[in-house]
Amino acid sequence: MPIDPPHLFPEHFVWGVATSAFQIEGAARADGKGPSIWDRFCEQPGAIADGSSGDVACDHYHRLDEDLDLIAALGVDAYRFSVSWPRVQPEGHGAWNERGLEFYERLVDGLLARGVKPYLTLNHWDLPQALQERGGWASRDTVQRFVDYALGMNARLGDRLAAITTHNEPWVIATLGHEAGNFAPGLKSRATAAQVSHHLLLSHGLAVQALRAEGSRARLGIVLNLAPVHTATDRDADRAHARLEDGRLVRWYMDPLFRGAYPDEVLEFLGADAPRVEPGDLAAIAAPMDFLGINYYSRNVASADGSWRAGRSGLALTDMGWEVYPAGLTELLLRLNRDWRLPPLYVMENGAAFRDELTGGRVHDHQRVAYLAAHIAAVGDAMAQGVPMAGYMVWSLLDNFEWASGYAKRFGLVHVDYATQRRTLKDSALWYRDFLRRQRERQASRARPLEVA
Ligand code: FCB
Repeated sequence: MPIDPPHLFPEHFVWGVATSAFQIEGAARADGKGPSIWDRFCEQPGAIADGSSGDVACDHYHRLDEDLDLIAALGVDAYRFSVSWPRVQPEGHGAWNERGLEFYERLVDGLLARGVKPYLTLNHWDLPQALQERGGWASRDTVQRFVDYALGMNARLGDRLAAITTHNEPWVIATLGHEAGNFAPGLKSRATAAQVSHHLLLSHGLAVQALRAEGSRARLGIVLNLAPVHTATDRDADRAHARLEDGRLVRWYMDPLFRGAYPDEVLEFLGADAPRVEPGDLAAIAAPMDFLGINYYSRNVASADGSWRAGRSGLALTDMGWEVYPAGLTELLLRLNRDWRLPPLYVMENGAAFRDELTGGRVHDHQRVAYLAAHIAAVGDAMAQGVPMAGYMVWSLLDNFEWASGYAKRFGLVHVDYATQRRTLKDSALWYRDFLRRQRERQASRARPLEVA
């Protein structure tokens, strides 16, 4: 067993595990659920590496109690999950689906009964297909549909939630979904992607304002995928490219959320592809939040000619081909804290895919344990330097449907045998559970925890 991170985290620091609806629930057509853009995308030949879909996934919809017991067995404080919008509102507007709502009610009540705080995400990418047919996130009408959805979920569950996240990773939805086209809905237009990013941010801000006006008790925020963007070489062209990538990945989201403006440099780069912004939009986007969530997996390395390849630097790679680079998490957190005025921060996702093998009822995933321990230490380092961290969540509770990569990439603390749906705690799950226990023991003794500045 590797050594725990040396840091002693404060008692109020929230430890969790995360999942998302489309990746685990399955039950794609059960109990009145409507199709999402990911259901439709999976039907396109070649879209998903192994030709799979979310039809069954981890069958979590039918195994809720068993999975809630797994969460409880880990001893975490919090569980971050998402709601499938088309499960609760099949058309994305109008009628609500009572059976879908009941599922999330059982989920939230089941967490509370086990002493686990529910962290709900409204949009982890599975937009109702019916809304896509009316223009999807490129249409300004979807903004109001999202606010109505947020209010509906809050009316039903808000009194029992610790936190509501509006969107997960708007950069991914905009850029991979609408510019690169390798994620749903599979469009390839830079102008559309820019407009989508604006509508996601606007719907976030308007939803936060509307939820506050309702007196929402849950803390409100958004989750961004951010990373330090390094330059591949010292050449001017690579440096300039890294600066632009940082603009498009980090400042394009951070500046409107925390400064009320898009970065000029990126607006100039987009030129005629820049989004249409109406008066009042930027003020709405900058509505004060209670937390900011960050998903961190690796650094980015930019080269002007696209020639840089992971592995060149000699760093270990995960099964996704992503560099293992924990120092980048400390670097990112310090930079965010330096350049913007931040609410409390959470790492809402961090984890790694490796080629796990189930042998004799065990999965000896020591690489994942080392990855997690190093990244938790990186969070502790940032806290020791004054970054206001509130929590950390592992991606993911279960092996699951890894989007365009299908089921081959395993991120879980818990192994899933898809043929039998049998769950097995990997060594990383046992380590995380024991690490949390050891933290609590140390907190109870006289040691002084990290102080949050
Ligand atoms: C993030 C997603 C999450 C998961 C991880 C590996 O971008 O938010 O759903 O797929 O990557």
